[in-house]
Amino acid sequence: MTKVEFVEPDGTVRRIDGREGLTVMETATRSGIAGIEAECGGACSCATCHVVVDPDWFARVGPPGEDERELLAFARHVTPTSRLSCQIRLTGMLDGLRVTVPRSQR
Ligand code: FES
Repeated sequence: MTKVEFVEPDGTVRRIDGREGLTVMETATRSGIAGIEAECGGACSCATCHVVVDPDWFARVGPPGEDERELLAFARHVTPTSRLSCQIRLTGMLDGLRVTVPRSQR
């Protein structure tokens, strides 16, 4: 199990048991995390899976790729640690990862 801590747009904190190999977006949608619509199903073409990665975790998660960066330009409340959650695949190294769903995604 790879635990992921989600902070929902209203501030609710939920700790979810994820699975290595799944993305953070898949983990969120399977658990009904608020604010992760994932309209494109993970094809990196909608930005409705935007999350802000906790700064303590960002080095392990890594920066967005070029396509992802271009899409993030259209998202609201983007920060230097913003990522599209469909582009973050869970590994053992990410056990305990904490991400926040922006308030604009209520
Ligand atoms: Fe559409 Fe992530 S689900 S960009």
